[in-house]
Amino acid sequence: MTDPVVIAVDGPAASGKGTLARRLAAELGYAYLDTGLLYRAVGLALIRAGLSPADQKAAIHAAAVFDAAAEDFSDPALRNEETGAAAGIVAVIPAVRDALIGVQRRFAANPPGGAPGAVLDGRDIGTVICPDADYKLFVEADIEERARRRVKELQDRGDAVIPARVLKEMKERDERDRTRAVAPLAPAADASVVNTTNLNADAAFALAMSLIR
Ligand code: CDP
Repeated sequence: MTDPVVIAVDGPAASGKGTLARRLAAELGYAYLDTGLLYRAVGLALIRAGLSPADQKAAIHAAAVFDAAAEDFSDPALRNEETGAAAGIVAVIPAVRDALIGVQRRFAANPPGGAPGAVLDGRDIGTVICPDADYKLFVEADIEERARRRVKELQDRGDAVIPARVLKEMKERDERDRTRAVAPLAPAADASVVNTTNLNADAAFALAMSLIR
């Protein structure tokens, strides 16, 4: 048995990393893990318990008892902006990050369904979770373009949106992700940067495939 192929796709919010990672996984027949959902699940558990995401003790407990097998990843509440903001807050806590390392590394080492590879998207896959990944992509785009995409995504879902607020919150989350002490968002030294500011999903996918092949 050869080890599964691991593709790490990191980048900031609304950079296009999720769309790209899902498509790579589908094209290559690999399993796909959106690791942001793990942090979102911890943030949502606190919101639902009526607790603040800044409550470190509660966040560490929620991460410790998190059970990926029992989680309903299709819950739409996982994908709303309030949960995304809470995820960014719990994600700065080192013990929360530590508690979620195992589930991510197991997925990469043993992709579900016996798939020959795994694509993981997140912030620290190429730097911390899978530093030995076979391929590392860092997907980015200008913040104004990322905020525009997020506004459209929320509008398409029927959510009420204030564009200026989306931009402001995205700047705050970027700042928190890039400056936190543990596993800050940054390209791995050996990552290929894919800037999608002027690329649509097809062009980003074609570029990523050319980097992988
Ligand atoms: O794409 P978007 O930023 O909206 O959401 P996400 O990828 O689901 O991530 C939500 C938050 O979780 C991010 O702002 C990060 O703070 C955190 N996160 C992380 O720290 N490490 C990861 N591997 C994935 C997400």
